[in-house]
Amino acid sequence: MNKEVKCISKVVKEFTRFAHQYDDYNVIQSKVAKTLVHKLPCDYYKTVIDIGCGSGSVYKNCLNQDIKVDNFFVLDSSQRMLDIHPTADTVHKICANFNDKSFFDLLPTHQVDLLVSSSSLQWSTALNITMDRLSLLSPLLYASIFTSGTFKTLHDVAGIVSPIYDTKTLQEIIQEYYTEVVFEVRQYHLAFKSTRDMFKYIKQSGVSSGERKLTYTQTKDLMKRYPLHYLEFEVLFVEAKK
Ligand SMILES: C[S@@+](CC[C@H](N)C(=O)[O-])C[C@H]1O[C@@H](n2cnc3c(N)ncnc32)[C@H](O)[C@@H]1O
Repeated sequence: MNKEVKCISKVVKEFTRFAHQYDDYNVIQSKVAKTLVHKLPCDYYKTVIDIGCGSGSVYKNCLNQDIKVDNFFVLDSSQRMLDIHPTADTVHKICANFNDKSFFDLLPTHQVDLLVSSSSLQWSTALNITMDRLSLLSPLLYASIFTSGTFKTLHDVAGIVSPIYDTKTLQEIIQEYYTEVVFEVRQYHLAFKSTRDMFKYIKQSGVSSGERKLTYTQTKDLMKRYPLHYLEFEVLFVEAKK
């Protein structure tokens, strides 16, 4: 097999302003979706499927960036998120869980031009199986996946192992299914005025930090010992062709 893997692994550091100024718990995911859509190579696709579409960041960024799609399949395991996702004649909503065995039965039977997924695949419980299925759907994958570098210092201080995949494991699995792959690692910092605000953000954003495994007293202690005024996020961007 003629494999071309450009592990650019360019580490791009991006700093956001204080989280509280945004009143938006998805500030990092929003930036990530925008960056991912910027990477798309064409401005027209007949069919796209968005895995873990949430409230429609990818779809909205496609509209904003003038990317036309005839049929936009959007998939999420949460009906509530699908209800929030914009509706249009071109949008086809699918409620399905990529960790379920029956997942594949709910997907379009024909291949789509592009498979896209932003900030969702880190929740795959068996990424090998998920990728094996997803790679059959389209010859092209554009994805952003949070890595174990997310909340790194927090995990180190708390003595917790990240519940999500590390960059190397993600890259190895993806390379098994695609012949031409370009990776880019971006790091984001989200600054807070106080540690209390930071921990409130973790709780309310629903981003799992492993912090919930701690007791109240342990969390208090962790808040005292956390040395940074920001939270760390690490995202692997994937551009993959079969
Ligand atoms: C962080 S949000 C990202 C949403 C959107 N892609 C964005 O960029 O803003 C993750 C989404 O993945 C969905 N999700 C998580 N696990 C899933 C699973 N096993 N199957 C399908 N969707 C899943 C969640 O419901 C949520 O809407």
